[in-house]
Amino acid sequence: MKLESFRDLLEIYLRGKMPEEKLACLPSGFQRVGDVILLNLRPEVIPYASDIAFAVKESVKGVKAVCRIEEIEGEARMPKAELILGSDTITIHKENGCLYKLDAARIMFSKGNLAERGKMATLARSGEVVVDMFAGIGYFSLPIAIHAKPKAVYAIEINPLAFSYLKENIRLNKVDGKVLPILGDCRKVNLGGIADRVVMGYLPGTAAYLPAAFKALKPAGGVLHYHDTYSESELWDAPIDELARQAERNGFRLKQVLDKRIVKNYAPKVYHIVIDAQFETARPS
Ligand SMILES: C[S@@+](CC[C@H](N)C(=O)[O-])C[C@H]1O[C@@H](n2cnc3c(N)ncnc32)[C@H](O)[C@@H]1O
Repeated sequence: MKLESFRDLLEIYLRGKMPEEKLACLPSGFQRVGDVILLNLRPEVIPYASDIAFAVKESVKGVKAVCRIEEIEGEARMPKAELILGSDTITIHKENGCLYKLDAARIMFSKGNLAERGKMATLARSGEVVVDMFAGIGYFSLPIAIHAKPKAVYAIEINPLAFSYLKENIRLNKVDGKVLPILGDCRKVNLGGIADRVVMGYLPGTAAYLPAAFKALKPAGGVLHYHDTYSESELWDAPIDELARQAERNGFRLKQVLDKRIVKNYAPKVYHIVIDAQFETARPS
């Protein structure tokens, strides 16, 4: 038999261990974070989770733990994960020349954001001051610091667990002094107008954080990377209008939309989008 997919492999391992009709409900893919595998299991196959985890470990090289994962919860973006095989979910994930240490069962790592994490490093410019308002474990701060030669990246994170990994990752990637971690709510951390570029890698409801983003921008202006969720019918007028409106309220003018892109699907006909937009001062000189 020609092996065509991950599911074919799983079926071979699991035939005879679970009812034949449930084989079609096996997962067709998985997420790998370092040497930990995250599986989204349909309810029909949850009773066979440990057999499935064993089959995954046999099919994929270098796996030390397998978790069943459900939705990402709350402001601090904690995954709901159940360890099904192995004992340790702390791992180091390598991506875009960065090392991300994290507990894969307790901290999110979105594979849908991979391209965006890589792209941020190409957009930031040498010598810039960057404020990363939702730094997590360093998703964007690390690639920017490693590849873009900024003057400084202020990395703000509210979740103490993510913050502890952020600090560890700064050391691991040897960007101490370049990435400056700050534990707190980005709406309350007031750095003054210091940023050439502000990264807003959080959703949904990111518009509520725009006043804080404008406060972080240099008085003359700069670039915001605005992530949020929008439905198909709202693209692209609604997010661009939101940026223009909020800029005016905060002493800036939308000068130019530099780029706009869909990062991934969020829900049916709803997308995680990002807009790179440049703002200039609206204050009379
Ligand atoms: C999970 S990340 C987004 C994912 C990331 N863009 C990627 O590439 O995978 C969002 C982070 O923002 C943090 N966060 C949420 N609200 C915050 C706030 N008000 N201030 C600072 N950090 C916040 C969360 O704790 C989380 O670590």
